[in-house]
Amino acid sequence: MRLALIGLLALVAGGANAQQAADAVQPEAAGVGIFESLSPQVTAALEAKRAGLPVQAEDWMVVAANPHAVRAGADVLAAGGTAADALVAVQVMLGLVEPQSSGLGGGAFLVWYDRASGRVTTFDGRETAPLAATPQLFQDAAGEPLGFFDAVVGGLSVGVPGTPALLAEIHARYGTRDWAGLLAPARALAADGFPVSPRLAQLVAEDAERLATSEIAASYFMPSGVPVVQGDMLVNLPYANTLKVLSEEGVGAFYAGDLAKTIVATVQGADNAGVLSDVDLAIYRVKERTAVCAPYRGHEICGMGPPSSGGIAVGQTLGFLEGYDLSAGPDDVTVRRLIADASRLAFADRGRYVADSDFVPVPVKGLLDPAYMAERGALLAGDDALPEVAAGNPEFDHALNWADDQAIELPSTSHISIVDSFGNVASMTTTIENGFGSRLMVGGFLLNNQLTDFSFRSHDGGVPIANRVEPGKRPRSSMAPTIVMKDGAPVIVAGSPGGSRIIGYTAQAIIAMIDWGLDAQTAAALPHAVNRFGTYDLEAGTTAEALAEGLAAVGYETDVRALTSGLHLIGIGERLQGGADPRREGIALGE
Ligand code: DON
Repeated sequence: MRLALIGLLALVAGGANAQQAADAVQPEAAGVGIFESLSPQVTAALEAKRAGLPVQAEDWMVVAANPHAVRAGADVLAAGGTAADALVAVQVMLGLVEPQSSGLGGGAFLVWYDRASGRVTTFDGRETAPLAATPQLFQDAAGEPLGFFDAVVGGLSVGVPGTPALLAEIHARYGTRDWAGLLAPARALAADGFPVSPRLAQLVAEDAERLATSEIAASYFMPSGVPVVQGDMLVNLPYANTLKVLSEEGVGAFYAGDLAKTIVATVQGADNAGVLSDVDLAIYRVKERTAVCAPYRGHEICGMGPPSSGGIAVGQTLGFLEGYDLSAGPDDVTVRRLIADASRLAFADRGRYVADSDFVPVPVKGLLDPAYMAERGALLAGDDALPEVAAGNPEFDHALNWADDQAIELPSTSHISIVDSFGNVASMTTTIENGFGSRLMVGGFLLNNQLTDFSFRSHDGGVPIANRVEPGKRPRSSMAPTIVMKDGAPVIVAGSPGGSRIIGYTAQAIIAMIDWGLDAQTAAALPHAVNRFGTYDLEAGTTAEALAEGLAAVGYETDVRALTSGLHLIGIGERLQGGADPRREGIALGE
């Protein structure tokens, strides 16, 4: 085993921004063998996942993308901590062991069910554009949009991180355990070292060229110039130190002080320099927002509203399907046609109307109005794929004239689902956007590239695009952390990574559990078929491939490809039932 240490200096080397297919950073391999020694419970959970069985529990459950992180959350829940406490422990551990997907340098959306009040609410810890950012941020001198990775790699794409502030906020509101104690396991593991998982090793290898543009990231992930391999021990002393500072001083130390100065210097000093300033960090605030809920077959599908499109698009997809019988199941072409065109209609509305509602008026109510959804849903009544799909005309109370959006979204991200023994529920999707984010590393964590979730073009044919860059604005997201309610109580916790396919992955999981009666593990493992903009993506190597002929016959172009969701699901009934996506390294633990 080799030891890899991050260099302590925050220097960023220049270098080539090689253009590669974005899918090269799509997470794939599920870890086998590396986590078995953690505990008998972890081994049992891994075995259940391999056998396709849900993990069952009575009191509490946690499902996330890495066994170290799930175990940290489980220890908190077993000791009587709340879902908010566990969320802190899980997130800071994920930032260490799954650093390419989420962490202190990123942002997150949390949907929270508070058992005491019976209320679902949401917290927006989305990254924010610097005050010096303009709508031309991702355009060249001629006003043409930059190439995607030319924008991603370096300082230009870095928004003010929101995850540290979100963790502090929900801990202050709903936590009962000592803050420093929740950070302690990740702090200790960062100092002691952890074995690189198969998935992390694979992603480092695939991203080596871009990681090489960042001296600190390169020295951590590629000590002696070559990518770490599965089983190598990674020691992250800067991360241990960051957690020590946050333990002792609270997250205020992230947004002002030495760490903040280093973040700003790193972003401004990068080759592809960004405009983030110490003022941007100092004024960052988490926003509590009303949950967006849509009716579906006697349930309320509650999710994240703007700046995420996730809650609206999942709610609409299901709402458009309300009048149709899906009981023939996932292998039926008509069922797949209905789901696909419902999703396409939702994406058309999303592209036109959804952005940060603090900057542009978003007709949330109109988009989820049952009459509007029934009218749009009626478009699905034919036998063939809709030849064309356009945004609808929901009711709104402001003048709206937006051009269709042109943002590009590509894979990384992580979803955490938790139910605590008091009945509180946390559904949080967390991200640094692209795999390894901006590739810039500070304090042992990677900085996000979330600003590339804005539209690179600000206008189309002279008409402004709602999701254009603006100072202090939050980029539109597809993240869809969801809590499904029935008769006033939570029954399903759901969410996934997957870029804009998050919406389809999450909608399918909910349909699988409500319409097809599948358990959480079977729903997470179900082969994917996703349609966002017309092409029907079918998951390679699964039974979804067999749909190709039938779907072509009703008018779809199909594309067989890897579809690497990371669905982490909990079904809440007489017992708790957890399912972890077999496409990733996560598990469910409960008691
Ligand atoms: O906020 C969003 O929608 C994206 N930045 C999330 C990226 C993502 O899910 C990548 N997943 N594999």
